[in-house]
Amino acid sequence: MNLIMNCIKRMLITRQHIIPIINVKHSIRSSNSSSNNGADDRKTAQNHFREIGLKTMNQFNSKKVKNVKARNIKVTFILDGGERLMGMGRQGDTLLEVVNDNNLEIDGYGACEGTLSCSTCHVMLKEEDYRNLPEGASDEELDILELAYDLCDTSRLGCQIKLTKEMDGIEVIVPASVNDARLI
Ligand code: FES
Repeated sequence: MNLIMNCIKRMLITRQHIIPIINVKHSIRSSNSSSNNGADDRKTAQNHFREIGLKTMNQFNSKKVKNVKARNIKVTFILDGGERLMGMGRQGDTLLEVVNDNNLEIDGYGACEGTLSCSTCHVMLKEEDYRNLPEGASDEELDILELAYDLCDTSRLGCQIKLTKEMDGIEVIVPASVNDARLI
């Protein structure tokens, strides 16, 4: 029973389920201490668990499906030497998240995990894509960006570029060398 309770507890993450868990726990405790109705109570409690667990699992699954479906923006990273790595992202994802979520192997990319302190996520965009980005670089981004190698007019930090639907099919160039500004 402890095993079931632990599994169910882990699944029940929403607030609306906290009270039912407490009730069910109480019900099981009473069923263990009283002899006659114990089996019935235990059965009722188990049914509660099953019901709540299934409901939560269904919500979890539908959320999962929704997230997988929403990953429909294609990004291509062109490495030095011409190798092309393709990843799919969701609206609002950063280029760094596309690299990580798709397990793209780009040496040293995103070393500071998007905390704006390394410049290793430097990418170069086509002029038109650069102009069409919904947001320009912030002062903080520009401060770090200027420490990157191979800087050009259309350079940005991948951890700061958020995907929009219009960016589907975008191609960005990853420079040959990176500078981890934290090590300077
Ligand atoms: S990941 Fe370090 S600045 Fe973008």
